[in-house]
Amino acid sequence: MDTDGTDQGFWKGRRIFLTGHTGFKGSWLSMMLSRLGAVVCGYSLDPPTTPSLYDAATVGTLIDSDVRADVGDLDAVRSAMNAFQPELVLHLAAQSLVRQSYVDPIETYRTNVMGSLHVMEAVRGCASVKAMINVTTDKCYAQEGRGVPFKEADPMGGADPYSNSKGCSELVTACYRRSFMQPEGGALLASARAGNVIGGGDWARDRLLPDCYRAFAEGHPLTIRYPGAVRPWQHVLEPLAGYLRLARRLLEGKADCATGWNFGPAAADALTVGDVATMACTTWGEGAAWHSDEQDHPHEEGWLQLDSSAATTRLNWQPRLDAATAVAWTIQWYRDYHRDGAARALCLDQIERYAEEGS
Ligand SMILES: NC(=O)c1ccc[n+]([C@@H]2O[C@H](COP(=O)([O-])OP(=O)(O)OC[C@H]3O[C@@H](n4cnc5c(N)ncnc54)[C@H](O)[C@@H]3O)[C@@H](O)[C@H]2O)c1
Repeated sequence: MDTDGTDQGFWKGRRIFLTGHTGFKGSWLSMMLSRLGAVVCGYSLDPPTTPSLYDAATVGTLIDSDVRADVGDLDAVRSAMNAFQPELVLHLAAQSLVRQSYVDPIETYRTNVMGSLHVMEAVRGCASVKAMINVTTDKCYAQEGRGVPFKEADPMGGADPYSNSKGCSELVTACYRRSFMQPEGGALLASARAGNVIGGGDWARDRLLPDCYRAFAEGHPLTIRYPGAVRPWQHVLEPLAGYLRLARRLLEGKADCATGWNFGPAAADALTVGDVATMACTTWGEGAAWHSDEQDHPHEEGWLQLDSSAATTRLNWQPRLDAATAVAWTIQWYRDYHRDGAARALCLDQIERYAEEGS
């Protein structure tokens, strides 16, 4: 049965090369894959934050091989992949912050474009690999004057360096698929676009829920930018389950799945930043509050929604946690972590609960 893309029997013993495993999504994904019995080689730099979910949940003890190297180093990517002989590559490593991309655009493009290119080039030379998913973002699309949800065939773009680097990474993916993978009968190459995700254990700067946790834990009111901006909100487990569902189809040889996929929340779950901050305050309790920061900030797109109907109809994937539940799970995670520090147990409990939601 494939109700949630996390079917235990299918994943047991599968060899997976996971870049970005020390990051927020990569740590959750490592725990999901470990629960499913997959054999994982992680390839990343050190965790991008201190603290990090990777360290808090001792994720390194759950995976089989922990390589600390740069995706900017083609030889290192090739040699780690060839040594491990994976059948699936999940590429999550990235400079993942919009604001940081204004501070250091060169590094952002180096990692997000050249790094992705190196991973694809390594896949091309590694015969064991049957499938690869390049994880990009909803921000990869050209956004001028948009008022309707993005479909997968919409043009790539991206106004800020992060978004644009991900649009470029998508273009490289499409080029590699057409120029090399398909003609050479190589790995099935797909990309996955999800919006801002939330979940316990994210300590990144400039993300709303981690900012909530930091403020609430210290007993300060939360200051937020763009309270009126509409964003899609989804729990981190939603796109991760989608990636696994897509990966399974690719590993089963379904060549028509080697394309770009949206994994966004339901339209009703597009809420303003202020709405989400209010929900977070209610869940945390103890008088938690927020106010708006009036200063000027670098440009960020205000309206992003994905049309995920292809994933729903063709992969049988759909969101299971509405925005309010996703915010509640996230703030509960932080609150309980604040109390007892049991990060891995909190994640595994939510992974189980998520699997039960779909059964
Ligand atoms: N978190 C979100 O809301 C969100 C939304 C849309 C898309 N994404 C995408 O999902 C992926 C994972 O996001 P995240 O939130 O876990 O990011 P993160 O910043 O928490 O983790 C980034 C990971 O990439 C690794 N990394 C960074 N530069 C590297 C380099 N040069 N070489 C090797 N490894 C490097 C880091 O060590 C870390 O493991 C990224 O591709 C990101 O763009 C994230």
